[in-house]
Amino acid sequence: MSTERTLVLIKPDGVRRGLVGEVVRRVEAKGYTLAALRLVRATPDLLAAHYAEHTAKPFYPALVGYMLSGPVVALIAEGERVVEGFRSLAGATDPTTAAPGTIRGDLARDWGSNPIQNIVHGSDSPASAEREIAIWFPEA
Ligand code: RTP
Ligand code: MG
Repeated sequence: MSTERTLVLIKPDGVRRGLVGEVVRRVEAKGYTLAALRLVRATPDLLAAHYAEHTAKPFYPALVGYMLSGPVVALIAEGERVVEGFRSLAGATDPTTAAPGTIRGDLARDWGSNPIQNIVHGSDSPASAEREIAIWFPEA
C-alpha cells in the first residue's frame, strides 16, 4: 500500500449533534482523502474488538454504553502521516483542555457524564489503523 490510512469514528455524540459534516470538512480541508465512509450501529462484539486495549479498564462499561447510544460514522482517511495528522486535528482526549482549533477543543465539552464524550476517535498508530479498519470495514 502506497499511502497511509487511518480509521476515524464520529462517535454518537458527534452524530447526534449534527457534526458529521464539520468533522468531514476538517479532514478534507486538511487535504486527506476519504477512502470509505459509512453510518453504522456498533455492537458489543465489535466494540470489544475495537477497544481490546481498554476492556479491563474501569471506564469500559460506560464507554460501551456511550458508543451504543446511537449511530456512529466510520471513515477511512488516507494520506502521508494521516494517523499522526488526524490525532493532531482531533486534539487531546479531554475536551475541556483540548486545544482550541482542534475538533475536541472547538466542538466538545464536559457534560458531567461518564465516560468522556469527545466526538471522534482516531487510530493511534499505523498498526492500530490497519487492525481497526479490518474491524469496521471488513471488505476494505
Ligand atoms: P480515541 O481512542 O477515542 O481516539 O481516544 P484517545 O486515544 O484520545 O483515548 P483512549 O485513552 O484511547 O480512550 C478511548 C475513549 O474512552 C473514553 N474514555 N473515557 N476516564 C474516562 O472517563 C475515560 N477515559 C477514556 C473516551 O471517549 C476516549 O476517547
Ligand atoms: Mg485511543
